[in-house]
Amino acid sequence: STEQPFKGLKVTITAGPTREAIDPVRFISNHSSGKMGFALARAFAEQGAQVSLVAGPVNLATPQNVRRYDVESAQQMHDVTLSLAPQQDIVIGCAAVADYRMQTVAEQKLKKTDDSEQLVLTLVKNPDIIAAVAALSAQRPFVVGFAAETQAVLDYAAQKLQRKNLDMICANDVALQGQGFNSEHNALTVLWKGGQQQLPLSDKYSLSQKLAALIVQQYRASQS
Ligand code: C5P
Repeated sequence: STEQPFKGLKVTITAGPTREAIDPVRFISNHSSGKMGFALARAFAEQGAQVSLVAGPVNLATPQNVRRYDVESAQQMHDVTLSLAPQQDIVIGCAAVADYRMQTVAEQKLKKTDDSEQLVLTLVKNPDIIAAVAALSAQRPFVVGFAAETQAVLDYAAQKLQRKNLDMICANDVALQGQGFNSEHNALTVLWKGGQQQLPLSDKYSLSQKLAALIVQQYRASQS
């Protein structure tokens, strides 16, 4: 469109899964497709925002006018996102970040042994990227998270909003068929301090257009 209502707005979005190496040929990851984050990047860019997309390993084309940073691990996603964050107006965490990584990545391929039926891997916690952005004391952007839950969706989302000190959280019921993870469709309940809004089931792009408008509305309200 020729209208650019988000012109001048700088937005960083994390998207997709992360990949945590076990050894040179294996990794731990999850089923995130990255579709929601990419759709959101497109929705913001189409309205004239300056969009940086920090993407884990996904099979998706970069939306037009979006600057893409490809990463693999949570640590890499953290480092890129935190280096961008102080220059942003809005940071949105759409990525399904692995909670844990290997304490030590094996230098050589792990071998199957004849003498044990068990293999024990020691994992350590990854940094929480969106919480780290929200904890910035100077140049803190407006911070939006996602909460994918299978039960007590709104309770858990409200707890995360508080615990991570986010400005908004988009709650996603991933137990429902035909939405969320790996789906073309999604429905969200968006929560913030002092309000909430339901975005009903629709394709991820239409949903992203509505969500982007709502995020910008709340961002602008927070500035005034
Ligand atoms: O705690 P949980 O993983 O459910 O929180 C989800 C939100 O936190 C999402 O916005 C996700 O992108 C973000 N997150 C993150 N870094 C992590 C874990 C989650 O940015 N290590």
